[in-house]
Amino acid sequence: MGGERSTAEESLIKIVNIPLIEDDGIICVVQYPDQIPYPIHRAYFIISPVAGLARGQHTHKENRQMLICLKGQVRMTLDDGKRREEMILSSPDKGIMLEPMVWHEMTDMNENTLLAVLASDRYDPEDYIRSYDEFLRAVKGETTSYADK
Ligand code: TYD
Repeated sequence: MGGERSTAEESLIKIVNIPLIEDDGIICVVQYPDQIPYPIHRAYFIISPVAGLARGQHTHKENRQMLICLKGQVRMTLDDGKRREEMILSSPDKGIMLEPMVWHEMTDMNENTLLAVLASDRYDPEDYIRSYDEFLRAVKGETTSYADK
């Protein structure tokens, strides 16, 4: 019973501590497997997002990602179809894990925000679910459209 309770209460938000090395500035290190649990096959950077617009609003079927807010701030909202949790990231010493089949949204950014994303897989538009209704059907096991691939 105790184990079930702790699983139910486990947060959707998984934060990784990222070491910062002060050396004529700051070096921020993410190294496999110490800070990130998979070899990185793609890195991308979200630079000067439009203030007030949301990004993300999708889930990935298989791709795993770590997102780091290098400058400014971002509100991260994660949703597994049962629970919705959010937190604000505003420093490069924290990475948030975006696991497959967790819907994620990024809001409250401005032109000063700089985000780095470290992905397990190369870009594949087929790996996205961009409809929240489709996501809910998939997590409830009502579709098998991606599971058979
Ligand atoms: P998207 O992943 O929807 O961005 P965000 O999650 O920040 O809202 O991608 C936005 C656009 O960029 C979309 O047209 C696909 C393109 N894109 C690539 O071509 N390659 C990539 O690796 C990524 C992440 C996006």
